[in-house]
Amino acid sequence: MRTLPLFLIAITAAAATPGSAPTYSKEVAPILFNRCGSCHRPKDIAPFSVLDYKAARPWAKAMKASVLARKMPPWFADPRYGHWSNDARLSDAEIRTIQAWVDAGAPEGNPRDLPAPPKFVEGWQLGQPDAVVDIGTDYEVTPNEDAYEHFVVETNFKEGKWIRAAEIKPGNREVVHHAHVLLVSNDLKQMEVASTKNAPTLQPYLIREGKLSRIRQDAPIQNDGCAVNAPDLPFLTGFQEGALASFLPGRPPDVFPDGSAKWVPPGAKVEFVIHYARVADKGRRDRTSIGFYFYPGGEPQRVLRRMDLRNFFLHIPAGAPNTEVRRCYEFEKDKLLLSFTPHFHFRGKDVTYEVVRPNGKRETLLYVPKYDFNWQLVYRLRDPVRIEKGSRMIVTVHYDNSPNNPGNPDPKQTLRWGDKSEEEMMTSWIEYFDADTVKTATSSAPSKSRSAR
Ligand code: HEC
Repeated sequence: MRTLPLFLIAITAAAATPGSAPTYSKEVAPILFNRCGSCHRPKDIAPFSVLDYKAARPWAKAMKASVLARKMPPWFADPRYGHWSNDARLSDAEIRTIQAWVDAGAPEGNPRDLPAPPKFVEGWQLGQPDAVVDIGTDYEVTPNEDAYEHFVVETNFKEGKWIRAAEIKPGNREVVHHAHVLLVSNDLKQMEVASTKNAPTLQPYLIREGKLSRIRQDAPIQNDGCAVNAPDLPFLTGFQEGALASFLPGRPPDVFPDGSAKWVPPGAKVEFVIHYARVADKGRRDRTSIGFYFYPGGEPQRVLRRMDLRNFFLHIPAGAPNTEVRRCYEFEKDKLLLSFTPHFHFRGKDVTYEVVRPNGKRETLLYVPKYDFNWQLVYRLRDPVRIEKGSRMIVTVHYDNSPNNPGNPDPKQTLRWGDKSEEEMMTSWIEYFDADTVKTATSSAPSKSRSAR
């Protein structure tokens, strides 16, 4: 007797046997629990729970449509490029099972076939943190509005700390859509000095309104950040050192790779940037916090770093359907890339990350054909990608400021860089290790005199 190849057994087990439609209890629940339950559960951000049949049943048709269109689970990387450790895409077999179930009338089946429900830890996912900082207020969410709020608070760290993980805990999961926490220096000036040597300053082009900044309408325009004359403008070369942690719906908190840590300088402040989901009623409050987990025993073997690549000088004409904005970066040393987080606002349409090696070879590292502002996804490389000194990274973004973009709040607006969601951004957060510090970190550990790294 010939044995069935393993993959066939796996497919047969996941798909329905002919004549008997898949049921919720037997074939479908394992998929929904695993792939949807982290967001689609009671008291979380998604509109319904998949954890029990009664709650899930009315959404059956919508579920079929959303998985066939690959709208759910949210994941936007073109599978032709890169391998991602957090790839959320369903397999074709999983999609077929959901489709067959819905086509058969979404039967419940025998509840005794149900798998054990997934366990969700309440409170800190990573256990009690070594230090906790919160936004400092019981913030009341404004009804009927998508709001981005910024809160700057003290860490009160008297000495610098190496941290091995940072977890953001939403105060109210039903209203916090996503959140980022950044380390901030006292003023932008200091941030510039820390990140870009001898670069011209950004100050003359900046306008500050309350807690938010934007670039003046009459600032120079440079959509092609890779052009030869571009380096005259601040921040179109080099990079800025970036933030600490993010909270995204359905995603476990980031624990930094083994043996690595991030540095939080003494006296640092943190800035919470929180996107609150639209709520209908008044009186919804939130007090989000961040927990720090200290690295045990002094200095880490490797310093986890983040470079932020931005083009502050973008200009997107009113109504324009496809404005291209680029940014380049020359690797000043060998680096091991770990992850990409593209960040634009409502008009962001697509983004490509390419690298040109010193031998001229051009490679696509990540292509996101349909960027969606609602999902601030991070794409984590399954294996770090080594990029040699002298290589050039090219980031190319397209924006759709036409009325055909359903997310566009106002196609009549000409856009420059600004913090508000209604203005635009072009930034990418790229986590990496310096390749030469992978064995020992002593050379790259910040000394007492060097702060804000
Ligand atoms: C990362 C969190 C997350 C995961 C994982 C996820 N969803 Fe969702 N889903 C949401 C959120 C938030 C919404 C509401 C906002 C939206 O539609 O974008 C939503 C909306 C939906 C909707 C309503 C769409 C509509 O047309 O109104 C369906 C159906 C759905 N999800 C199905 C699924 C299924 C099936 C899975 C698993 C295969 C899944 N989702 C996985 C977060 C998630």
